[in-house]
Amino acid sequence: MQFTYHNPTRLHFGRNQFGQIGREIPKDAKVLVLFGGGSIQRNGVYDQVSQALSAHQWLDFGGIEPNPSIETLDGAVKKVQEEQIDYLLAVGGGSVIDGAKYIAAAACYSGYGWDILDGSHKVRKALPVGAVLTLPATGSESNGAAVITRTATHEKRSFLSPLVQPAFAILDPTVMRSLPDRQLSNGIIDAFVHICEQYLTEPTEAVVQEGYAEVLLRNLVALARSYDHRAEDGWQENLMWTANQSLNGLIGAGVPQDWSTHAIGHELTAVFGMDHAQTLAVVLPALLEEMIINKRAKLTQMGERVFGLSGEAVAEQTIVAIEDLFRSIGAATRLNQHHISRNDVATELLPALQAHARWPLGEKRDIDLARCEAILMRAV
Ligand code: NZQ
Ligand code: ZN
Repeated sequence: MQFTYHNPTRLHFGRNQFGQIGREIPKDAKVLVLFGGGSIQRNGVYDQVSQALSAHQWLDFGGIEPNPSIETLDGAVKKVQEEQIDYLLAVGGGSVIDGAKYIAAAACYSGYGWDILDGSHKVRKALPVGAVLTLPATGSESNGAAVITRTATHEKRSFLSPLVQPAFAILDPTVMRSLPDRQLSNGIIDAFVHICEQYLTEPTEAVVQEGYAEVLLRNLVALARSYDHRAEDGWQENLMWTANQSLNGLIGAGVPQDWSTHAIGHELTAVFGMDHAQTLAVVLPALLEEMIINKRAKLTQMGERVFGLSGEAVAEQTIVAIEDLFRSIGAATRLNQHHISRNDVATELLPALQAHARWPLGEKRDIDLARCEAILMRAV
């Protein structure tokens, strides 16, 4: 096992933490507050942010959409350059935070911003970013990843740079009170699949990473099983903290990873507009069935330690338990429930996947396009 682990984001967790924003951002910084489609204006978060920034000079930029597009974000890049902004504050879910990361890097680059996404430009400089998380799911508030869409070409791509990782994040679970059920369920599923992508590979000797992954998975199973309690403070606190810990670099440090469910899911979003987590709920069970030969030992371990399963065919039972879990919180687990047919997969999805994925996929690098086709046909 070999890794370097460093997570420099300062997290301010719990209620009444908005005041930290004013202390975190230098007083002489000119700030651009970034937000989405207006939920923060309806639930009072915008007011709390503006109060926290009362001693700062600041402007705002709203309208960042779910699955943020470079077309929208480049409007903010222009504003940053024209107004000589020195600090970005993202107030929202993964889309707004990812958008802020792109803006932070693109504002310091004179070429076309998509170069950052297609890998032809490596980020060397970025504005500092802070985050106020309103939707626990992606872990974007304390990692260096961002996923951006180019609407014109139906492409959804990611980049990773420590330079865009938020310097601080406010995690106040009371902001979740206005979340629609669909987004809460998305949050549980996204966090669950992040753990699976870093855990459901092959057995390792990394007892810290595996043990912590299992704790986080058990938390999410418990939250799904107590979904009726989702309006309670304790339930919301545990989801926000668990989702954060699921993708902050710790459980993936030095262990094999398999991001193929996400790679296939990003194409489903780019081509058919499905919510990020809804793509994962469809792809993961089908992928686990198709790749069970590689994953049997870890599926068995997960079944025993997370779902408390025993007896015959624990790996197969675990896949069923995962699918049941997603369904129990209202997610569809088949493409046909999203009105996507085998023909749609063959004619629209597979060509897009072929063009955009970083082949081959999987922890053993043995998932090629034919394997993806088999996975997706199982998922229909
Ligand atoms: O836009 P507003 O009006 O704010 O509404 C949002 C949006 O419509 C709403 N919302 C957020 N907080 C709310 C709220 N509504 C009421 N009350 C609140 N407190 O929720 C909707 C979805 O928001 P979005 O930010 O799109 O959701 P999520 O956090 O699931 O982010 C998804 C994006 O993150 C990327 C995904 O690909 C997708 O683009 N990911 C980023 C990752 C990362 N940076 O590490 C990893 C993930 O795997 C993922 O790929
Ligand atoms: Zn995800």
